[in-house]
Amino acid sequence: MRIVQLRAQNFRLFETLSLQTHCRLNFIFGANAAGKTSLLEALYTLGRGKSFRGSTPGELAGVAGRHWLVFGRVEAADTEPRHRVGVRWQDGVGQVRVDGQAARNLDLLRLLPVQVLEPGMHRMLQEGPSYRRSFLDWGVFHVEPSFLPTWSRYRRALRQRNQALRQNASDRELAVWEPELAEAGERLDALRRTHLADIGPTVQDHVRVLLDEGEWNFELLSGWGQGLALREALLRQRTADRRLGTTQAGPHRAELRVRAGGHGIRHRISRGQQKLLIAALLLAQCTVIGRSAGRYPVLLVDDFGAELAERYQATLLAALVRYPGQVFVTAFERSGVLATVADAALFHVERGVLRPDS
Ligand SMILES: Nc1ncnc2c1ncn2[C@@H]1O[C@H](COP(=O)(O)OP(=O)(O)O)[C@@H](O)[C@H]1O
Ligand SMILES: [Mg+2]
Repeated sequence: MRIVQLRAQNFRLFETLSLQTHCRLNFIFGANAAGKTSLLEALYTLGRGKSFRGSTPGELAGVAGRHWLVFGRVEAADTEPRHRVGVRWQDGVGQVRVDGQAARNLDLLRLLPVQVLEPGMHRMLQEGPSYRRSFLDWGVFHVEPSFLPTWSRYRRALRQRNQALRQNASDRELAVWEPELAEAGERLDALRRTHLADIGPTVQDHVRVLLDEGEWNFELLSGWGQGLALREALLRQRTADRRLGTTQAGPHRAELRVRAGGHGIRHRISRGQQKLLIAALLLAQCTVIGRSAGRYPVLLVDDFGAELAERYQATLLAALVRYPGQVFVTAFERSGVLATVADAALFHVERGVLRPDS
């Protein structure tokens, strides 16, 4: 997909914001606090209905009051119909519209896949497994239509079993929820495995190019005892689960384990390596989504050069240039490797004012 137009009102420091682009590659330059990240947040909001900085909708509202609007036109290709997407927030109430009709966040997610590579993403490698599960699940969601209904079934059964555990329910009562939980859980696990296997070779290609050394491994741990059927694992866990009042086995406990040269990577790899590794994961996943769903996600890359020596900036840029989907990149200025790309649309942002850059 690509975003051909973005408009925003009272969004962070932008009183109004208007951007038109037909280019695949878009560079946005600006000094500190000019509004680069905020611009990417507005683009992200078109596809996700929320910020990637963990801000509440209220925090996105600018000085004109408790409201904001982000509007965009998006298309899959020149020959395909354009869609109008709007996300509005006012006094605590959010509203999504697609082609003039009231819609849900889910409709945005489906229509405009958008992914971001930004400094805060190091959480994906440094913090708990939920960040890595989200990474994986976002991809599964886009390539596998049965993911969402399976996930809903799983969540419902999980909620019921947890409630039963907290009420100290009998084995018979627990046994009511466990078959459904186990069945949906194993399906989720299988979907994640398939996706990881699908992106694996492309991840390794990107890792080789971007990180150019070492051996990196990605392994999915299901979230319950290896080799056990989930139903059996739930059965064995009952006593411990009753004590804690929560289900401790299942794909909600899965982990995507990342290892380098046989070691865990937390606190071991540099910020630059983290950034490149995350770039490899995201680029590979977006490429696979594009190939299989026919729509390449829009990639947002904030603070392009941060943490990277020039050599690595060059390989990352080359990978972004090769990526078939639309890309928005922010940086302080058009210097170094960014100056070498001829066919990009250039923009300049200064204290909440965006202009095409000649
Ligand atoms: N809700 C808001 N309303 C008005 N200004 C905001 C809001 N949120 C952030 N800002 C201002 O926007 C500026 C930061 O914009 P940002 O997009 O992070 O800049 P950059 O990424 O170019 O460094 C800061 O000066 C900050 O005070
Ligand atoms: Mg920024």
